Amino acid sequence: MAKNKLQRYADLRLFTNVFEGAGVHRGAWSRDYFKNDGPLVLELACGKGEYANDLARRSPENNYIGVDIKGARIWKGAKCAIDSEIKNIAFLRQYIQFLPQSFSRGEIAEIWLTFPDPFLKQSDNNKRLTSPFFLNIYQKFLRPGGIVRLKTDSDLLFTYTIESAARCGCAIRRRIDDVYAAPAEDPILMIQTYFEKKHLDAGRKIHYLEMSLPETEIKVFKFRCSLETRDAAEKTI
Ligand SMILES: C[S@@+](CC[C@H](N)C(=O)[O-])C[C@H]1O[C@@H](n2cnc3c(N)ncnc32)[C@H](O)[C@@H]1O
Repeated sequence: MAKNKLQRYADLRLFTNVFEGAGVHRGAWSRDYFKNDGPLVLELACGKGEYANDLARRSPENNYIGVDIKGARIWKGAKCAIDSEIKNIAFLRQYIQFLPQSFSRGEIAEIWLTFPDPFLKQSDNNKRLTSPFFLNIYQKFLRPGGIVRLKTDSDLLFTYTIESAARCGCAIRRRIDDVYAAPAEDPILMIQTYFEKKHLDAGRKIHYLEMSLPETEIKVFKFRCSLETRDAAEKTI
């Protein structure tokens, strides 16, 4: 492993705004870490944490936690927060599927999913962060009426998410097919991550969706979205 990477892993243990693994502060993030009652907002698959850091700067009344499994990426977000003295943010290095071990029921007010991997292979579709599998997980810590927000460049993930939401009984609160068609419609949608910049440079459209989860427990199942069904049919012709 590169020396730089090893140094960053060592730094992560020293950064006071980075946590690793299950259990830390579960049910008590506001009291024990942030020391205020501000709503807790997660950015899942946060990568280098650009979105969460920017949101935290703009909304000091909220508390933010960026979650990702890649330590080298988390390092960048955490270092930026330290250098910029952003106090209302922490980073958690953990697999998203294990988050119920880190947050208690109703502890989270809002979830951002920023450019999660679309997992293009249909056999992988339960790895998509808006699959019934993951929506069921979010129900275990998102408070009733809490919002899940998705930003993606992927037509497949966007369509899959709309259909997953419908099948799981989620209510779509807002849908924007092309975020930059109406510039500055909402300033917080204009924040750009590393991956978003790459997609924009490649000329791709950015999609946005906002939904709330149902009160009844979401069943876990796999399905093919309409784009996957169409592609599968074309292959057999
Ligand atoms: C395409 S990158 C996007 C990063 C960032 N949001 C951005 O827009 O620049 C996807 C990120 O999701 C993380 N990721 C994917 N699946 C995950 C999982 N199950 N648990 C935790 N992190 C995951 C990866 O480590 C990666 O950093």
